[in-house]
Amino acid sequence: MVGQGVAQRQMMEDLETVLYTEEQILTRIRELGEQLTVEYRGKVPLLVGVLKGAVMFLSDLVKRMSIPLEIDFIAISSYGLSTQSSGVVRILKDLDRDVDGRHVLIVEDIVDSGLTLAYLRDVLARRHAASVRIAALFDKPGRRQVPIRPDYCGFTVPNAFIVGYGLDYAERYRNLPCAGILKEDVYRSSESAHT
Ligand code: IMP
Ligand code: MG
Repeated sequence: MVGQGVAQRQMMEDLETVLYTEEQILTRIRELGEQLTVEYRGKVPLLVGVLKGAVMFLSDLVKRMSIPLEIDFIAISSYGLSTQSSGVVRILKDLDRDVDGRHVLIVEDIVDSGLTLAYLRDVLARRHAASVRIAALFDKPGRRQVPIRPDYCGFTVPNAFIVGYGLDYAERYRNLPCAGILKEDVYRSSESAHT
């Protein structure tokens, strides 16, 4: 228990700013869940979580949706420079469910360039989903390279690198219950450590 507290404090120290507390995030997710409950009433939507960042958002969101629904996961990776999405996307783990005729809601942690989601939306449409919509916890519209807009969005964030509440830097910080901007010297120092 003591160890956990120390680890958490260290992660918090790597944040430049806390953008949203756990409580603020959960309040917003409750609102989105209520909205989605109304919009998908009578439809049994298939929620597709994009691994791994969307896991926490998805799990909190579905608990706030009081209609029958199904959950599936997809893992994708984009080729290119490590910090920049190239738009060439590869499916690492495909869906278990057939989406033909289903009302699909893609659940994503953050929309940045939009390239990943544009690809995923096309894949699902080609598989004859009845509808494809996007729910993103965070939206960074200032970085967009393709015209894509989440249909449901938790928060609009500035052009900065966000971690916590599922979002990672080099697989770390996903377990921070809040979301914040990562200090630049954290990635500068680890970049030099890896080269
Ligand atoms: P896009 O194809 O550029 O929109 O890439 C979106 C993906 O990049 C997200 O699903 C995240 O995994 C990752 N990403 C983009 N911005 C951030 C960020 O600020 N923090 C953490 N991950 C991010
Ligand atoms: Mg992601």
